[in-house]
Amino acid sequence: MSSSKASAVTPGPGLSRLLTVDDSFAGSQNFSADRARHLCGELEAGHIVFLPVPPVAISQEDRALLLGRKQTSSAYHKNIAYRPAEDRITGLDASEQAEADSLRRILREFSKRSVEFLTGFLAPYAGKWKLDYASYRPIEEEGRPARLHARNDLLHFDSFPTRPTNGARIFRFFVNLNPTKSRVWLTSETFEAFGPRFAHAGNLLEKAGGNQLTRGIRFLARTLHLPFSSRPPYDEFMRRCHNAMKEDAAFQENTLKNRWEFPPHSAWMVFTDCVSHAVLSGQYALEQTFQIPQAALVAPQKSPLALLEKIGGHPLTL
Ligand code: SIN
Ligand code: FE
Repeated sequence: MSSSKASAVTPGPGLSRLLTVDDSFAGSQNFSADRARHLCGELEAGHIVFLPVPPVAISQEDRALLLGRKQTSSAYHKNIAYRPAEDRITGLDASEQAEADSLRRILREFSKRSVEFLTGFLAPYAGKWKLDYASYRPIEEEGRPARLHARNDLLHFDSFPTRPTNGARIFRFFVNLNPTKSRVWLTSETFEAFGPRFAHAGNLLEKAGGNQLTRGIRFLARTLHLPFSSRPPYDEFMRRCHNAMKEDAAFQENTLKNRWEFPPHSAWMVFTDCVSHAVLSGQYALEQTFQIPQAALVAPQKSPLALLEKIGGHPLTL
């Protein structure tokens, strides 16, 4: 395994690379359309864009409030999620309601500033994305107890079991709030390198898509506008892939990997559905998720959905 501070290294074919952008804090409105397109292409291909200086301001006061939260309640063991569409936070228990308003305000502002920054920085996606949840991650990741499929210290591609994307891509923007400690990630092969191999093994795509009968019923229900609730085959495949990767101890041990250290106050962004990633250690991060629809991608033909549909030979979305 090679180890690197977040800086320009070339890990090898099929592995995620890291691109450093060190002038983003100056304001994304200065970014040319060509540069934005280029970055979107790199991100879509499974590379990490790293910003040594975070482009979203968080005041000293808000930082102190986030870092100073007491570690007493059981809810402390969860991340705190912010749902922008409802302006609501989840993950706090009753004893923490006193803090709820200030946390909601801080996450609302973080979410808003992330959107403003990325609107210029990744202009091809602006206004076309679906703004998903933001989160505050106050728990030390090293040694954090979790059931196998929820463990984030094992390499995986993200998939949302409870809110399927139906082919839209999962894009995440992170800021390390920790004043002294890096957030440490591993990455391995991109989905383009790993996914097709995995899809071919054990007829996994067929299993995710259901048999011809299920496909027929799904098609009929859609045509007749009948309610037929089933997870889209794309999401079913991605869920199975996520779980299988975490269950495979030999894969976790032996696959080629790179280690990245995201220093205090830095920011980074990735499509977590095509960057295989694991977080080894780190505490106190903010994150905003976006769902990017196929129509907004600069290289839709390279998306996990397109790669899988090419192999399967039939649509995987509903
Ligand atoms: C993950 O998406 O697996 C966790 C990443 C992180 O919290 O750093
Ligand atoms: Fe993840």
